[in-house]
Amino acid sequence: MTNIPADRPGAICSLEELERRLAAAPAFRAAHRRPFIVLSYAQSVDGSIAGRNRERIQLSSPESMRITHGIRSLCGAILVGIGTVLADDPRLTACDGAGRQPQPVVLDTHLRTPPAARLVQRPDARPWLIHRHPLPDARTRALRAAGATPMACAAGPDGRIDLAALMGLLCANRVDSLMVEGGARVITSFLRCRLADLLVVTVSPRFVGGLAVLDAGQFEGGLGIHLEEAVYRQAGPDLIVWARPEWGPR
Ligand SMILES: NC(=O)c1ccc[n+]([C@@H]2O[C@H](COP(=O)([O-])OP(=O)(O)OC[C@H]3O[C@@H](n4cnc5c(N)ncnc54)[C@H](OP(=O)(O)O)[C@@H]3O)[C@@H](O)[C@H]2O)c1
Repeated sequence: MTNIPADRPGAICSLEELERRLAAAPAFRAAHRRPFIVLSYAQSVDGSIAGRNRERIQLSSPESMRITHGIRSLCGAILVGIGTVLADDPRLTACDGAGRQPQPVVLDTHLRTPPAARLVQRPDARPWLIHRHPLPDARTRALRAAGATPMACAAGPDGRIDLAALMGLLCANRVDSLMVEGGARVITSFLRCRLADLLVVTVSPRFVGGLAVLDAGQFEGGLGIHLEEAVYRQAGPDLIVWARPEWGPR
């Protein structure tokens, strides 16, 4: 594995260092009233995370996928948006279901998750479906019966789940560390709300011309985020960027 530049002291740029950092996640949660957040996804060199019509594309190589699964197994919970559930029907397991599994969490404002979704059908976990209240009881009951746990949360002015309220909900449920995987709208919301402590981005050597990682409709002007302690590592044909976001003035 190549490392460019040389390791930076204090930087988190391996699963081992992340594991050490996450050992202090309970104290982080107590101090910050939210979990430690790892924002991690795969993109092409042109910044696409899926095809033009939001169809799933296998961007990660087996080597970078191993890192992604390693992060999943280290985090207490893993979060995606309902757009990802509908497009990809993911299971959100770590290492194909072997070993420690993160709690699956879906931002699903209107409870659109299909009861037959693979995530809901997992025998080993009940995904938390975060929806705005109130919603029809019948929908909630059907999803509960299918294997999910709907959880009501406050909505923000845009009608979607309010991420500050979500942080409170996760804290109340003792989630110390959270991996946010996507998709574009969810990644953009977390960055806009400055909710990321570590970025781990896989860059696949190809142009896709597909769905951009940032949903420009969600913010005006630039995000103005600098990456500190950035370390670039090769994993098979991919580059993995490990970095800490540094937020500019609002
Ligand atoms: N390459 C990768 O690493 C990777 C990883 C994951 C996903 N993906 C791709 O990403 C695509 C899906 O992305 P997407 O942007 O369409 O959907 P998404 O980000 O997965 O989900 C967005 C939806 O989540 C709900 N939501 C609730 N609260 C939200 C909040 N505060 N902020 C943002 N969303 C909130 C909204 O549903 P309502 O509209 O119902 O309110 C929103 O439309 C798929 O093509 C998938 O393949 C790629």
